[in-house]
Amino acid sequence: MQPTPGQLALAQAVGEGVTREAEAGQTVPASRYTDPDHFAREKAALFDRLPQVLAPSALIPDAGMAVPHDATGRPLLITRDGDGVAHVFLNVCRHRGTRLVEGQEVQCAKRLVCPYHAWTYKLDGKLLALPRPETFPGLDKSEHGLVELPSLEAGGLIWFAPEEGADFSDAKAVSADFDAFGMGKAYLFRRKTHTVYGNWKLIMDAFLESYHVTRLHANTIGPFFKDGVTAGDSVGPHLRSAVGRLEEMEGVDLTDMEAMRRVITFAYQLLPATVIVPSPDYVNVMVLMPQRHDLTLVEDFMLIPEEPKTDKARDHWERSWKLLDGGVFASEDFRAAELGQQGLESGAVTELTLGTLEGGIARFDAIVQDALNA
Ligand code: FES
Repeated sequence: MQPTPGQLALAQAVGEGVTREAEAGQTVPASRYTDPDHFAREKAALFDRLPQVLAPSALIPDAGMAVPHDATGRPLLITRDGDGVAHVFLNVCRHRGTRLVEGQEVQCAKRLVCPYHAWTYKLDGKLLALPRPETFPGLDKSEHGLVELPSLEAGGLIWFAPEEGADFSDAKAVSADFDAFGMGKAYLFRRKTHTVYGNWKLIMDAFLESYHVTRLHANTIGPFFKDGVTAGDSVGPHLRSAVGRLEEMEGVDLTDMEAMRRVITFAYQLLPATVIVPSPDYVNVMVLMPQRHDLTLVEDFMLIPEEPKTDKARDHWERSWKLLDGGVFASEDFRAAELGQQGLESGAVTELTLGTLEGGIARFDAIVQDALNA
């Protein structure tokens, strides 16, 4: 597997020790995190409008799978039809509006049957059959399929947009990087939804700067990142960064993805609110779904190259899952976001002061402001 030209350029920049230092003295108003009205504007401009990641493709790997998804605030249903094409529907029966599929778990089903009067749909959304059809004279089944929302499956991720006419071109462009990580063929090892009592951008911020890594994560992954050099750029509104240690990079063929991933750690912040952290041999996808200005659901997915075949392999991945999901993310990054929310709500800090290692936070803030003003 080879890196994309963009990944290679960042890796080379790290190898040449091209550090990325932001200008000094940047600030972000605390109200961007604490003001419910500001959050309402973000929700309308970003989360009710833009293409956004819902889940990795590996959540429904096979044709004939469906899974309800409610955490965006809409009753969604993600399916993979008989031809293997992914769809995002409203999880609502077209007869009298009953929730079609209950629960939260992935189902294997050729057909979806409404629990109320048993109208039956195919996984491509078509209304297949209904009991006593003669009691609906003149009903055109082709006009009573499930309501489908715009979606895209690329790079091992399923995106959707809440509105018609959304532009998925930036999503497609950044997906090439995820294909290069093998995410399109990955296996979903675990997923977990975390409830974080903090603004969604405080969680994004934890993945937008390296200043905290050796400190907040001193007892977990911090030691691996000592003296790292960071380089970064963007693909449309999506941010991409790479951090590596110069002394380990000597002689490494950066055009070999596997070798490169051992010495360089990438991270992606996809607008509006998805974080992708590829470790050397697995990938965490975190989908942030804000519920209020101070409450965010984060679904963390761990993707591994293939289904573990032995207990030893399972133990290996289980340790990685516990370290990152439970240790680094939940106990450290998400906790820091909650502590930040508690502190900012006090009004003691009206402007967040950013150092030169925290330029990612100012960049992301500017991207969000652009989207708000669009
Ligand atoms: Fe679904 Fe009647 S509401 S079949």
